[in-house]
Amino acid sequence: MQRELEGQVALVTGSARRLGKAIALELARAGSDILIHYGSTAEEVVAETLNELKQCEVRAEAKQADLSQAEASEDLVQCAVERWGRLDILVNSAAIFQKRELMEVTRQDWERTLAINLSAPFFLSQAAARIMKQNGRGTIIHLGDYGSLQPWPNYAHHGISKAALIMLTRTSALSLAPEIRVNAVIPGPVLRPEQMAEEAWSKISQSPPLAWGGDERSVAKAVRFLASHTAITGAVLPVDGGHSLTPPKWR
Ligand SMILES: NC(=O)c1ccc[n+]([C@@H]2O[C@H](COP(=O)([O-])OP(=O)(O)OC[C@H]3O[C@@H](n4cnc5c(N)ncnc54)[C@H](OP(=O)(O)O)[C@@H]3O)[C@@H](O)[C@H]2O)c1
Repeated sequence: MQRELEGQVALVTGSARRLGKAIALELARAGSDILIHYGSTAEEVVAETLNELKQCEVRAEAKQADLSQAEASEDLVQCAVERWGRLDILVNSAAIFQKRELMEVTRQDWERTLAINLSAPFFLSQAAARIMKQNGRGTIIHLGDYGSLQPWPNYAHHGISKAALIMLTRTSALSLAPEIRVNAVIPGPVLRPEQMAEEAWSKISQSPPLAWGGDERSVAKAVRFLASHTAITGAVLPVDGGHSLTPPKWR
């Protein structure tokens, strides 16, 4: 089995469970040491994830931080550096997914979504880039959403926050070259959000143009590919079975 990321250190936000965990495991299979970040996941779940990561024969540790707080970004990057002396890969997977019609979005909703989905990836990128520049290399991967390519009126501020991540990807890819590569993976509906009813989920996730829209592992493999491929920067890669090519299935 190829371990092309052997000797590297990755920080994956929101990775104690769900999609972030699948990404952390895939990077660990490629040989990278992993600092998982979590918010409110229970300690026993975090411990189980660490256990699974260590079975990939890599070092794995965990750090809790509330990404709505400004100081969290610097603290997380410093944590990786204090523990292992470097940071090679940053994956921004943590996000919130709040349902609101455009006219119902309050200032508080707006500021919280933007803080977690956009400001945290922005300032984590800045903090990570300072370290990566010193080391002469690094890569940053953002998790977008196909709701940034289709307008979803009932998730207005969410889609706007994720659309801004695309420009963050492209701007920072140019600003941080040549040492640092920056890319984004845009998942389709691969894992039902916990607050979403099964009926709504089947409606939106069914019948993509490719018939199959992918799963957590497909998204994780795309992250691994971008982490490894040293000629790619500024790419925005949908992994969605073509969902984003079609009109939105919900309003
Ligand atoms: N699931 C899908 O089908 C899908 C589709 C399109 C795009 N995406 C994108 O892919 C990424 C991962 O998806 P997912 O479904 O795994 O996401 P998720 O379960 O909604 O959230 C991922 C993690 O974000 C963390 N988080 C949220 N608010 C936080 C805060 N204030 N401080 C610290 N951590 C916080 C949570 O950690 P804790 O649980 O530890 O609090 C959570 O586990 C997200 O960026 C999402 O937008 C997912």
